[in-house]
Amino acid sequence: MLLQNEEAVDRFSYILKKLVDVATEDHYNPYKEFEWVDSLDPNQMWMSPSLMSIYNTTFYNELPEAQIQALSKWESINFYSLNVHGIRELLIEVIKRIHTEGFELPSEFFHHFIGEENEHMWFFSKFCLNYGGKIYVDKKVIIENSGKEIFENFLVFARILIFEEIVDYFNICMGSDQSLHPIIRKINKVHHMDESRHIAFGREIVKLLHNDLKETQSIEQLYQLETYIKRYMVSSINSLYNPTVYKDAGFEEPYAIRNKLIALPERVEMHEKILKRTTDFFVKNEIFSNKELF
Ligand SMILES: [Fe+2]
Ligand SMILES: [Fe+2]
Repeated sequence: MLLQNEEAVDRFSYILKKLVDVATEDHYNPYKEFEWVDSLDPNQMWMSPSLMSIYNTTFYNELPEAQIQALSKWESINFYSLNVHGIRELLIEVIKRIHTEGFELPSEFFHHFIGEENEHMWFFSKFCLNYGGKIYVDKKVIIENSGKEIFENFLVFARILIFEEIVDYFNICMGSDQSLHPIIRKINKVHHMDESRHIAFGREIVKLLHNDLKETQSIEQLYQLETYIKRYMVSSINSLYNPTVYKDAGFEEPYAIRNKLIALPERVEMHEKILKRTTDFFVKNEIFSNKELF
């Protein structure tokens, strides 16, 4: 990473120090933090209605309550499973870069990040295994490597930021939803606290890495990266619609229902809402030339 001038170095160092100080101060023991109940009643909502894949559609008004509750259970297990897989991928990428050339400044922050993400992966997987009896398998397409370090550095941190922002949208909502069981509220709230630092860091590093690209790459190449990031955002949204989830919740044609839901205009409206904060960030910082995603 090239920090173009002293001012940029100072600003980045200042932000990193603040984030490291808060992470040190607020550090908690995740292995003692949660009161894991033996089981969760299936006859309740496990996820806030507005986060479910049927929200804002006729399905939500027409399905029997018991099926909506079952779907909320399996969609929440899918959400935490996506967290487990997403964290594994981002840990691999951050560990590849810590204490390597170009990443000297954020390495101290990376130690906190890696430690915290390991703990998040632990509590999300524990939730899935305790209350769902499984972690859904990772169906994400293999991410192709461009073979160019300067692109990869940028794309890795852009992907991490997108992942963390989508998750945070869910965490913010469920962390304060009084209708949810305390353990559900708690893991979402605790995760949101740590992620607010990760997202603040992510935004800084993505801007810096994009500056490197603007200095050295052609307009066409920058546009290709924009297209790639947008595709990644759409595929992240699509992973919220898992056919196995619909099957587990008792739907007869799980693939058909998935494809139907994903394409509904009412759902596209929700996708844009979930991604709004991220899209606005990319547009504001001229990483995107427009807001169009779908
Ligand atoms: Fe996390
Ligand atoms: Fe994170």
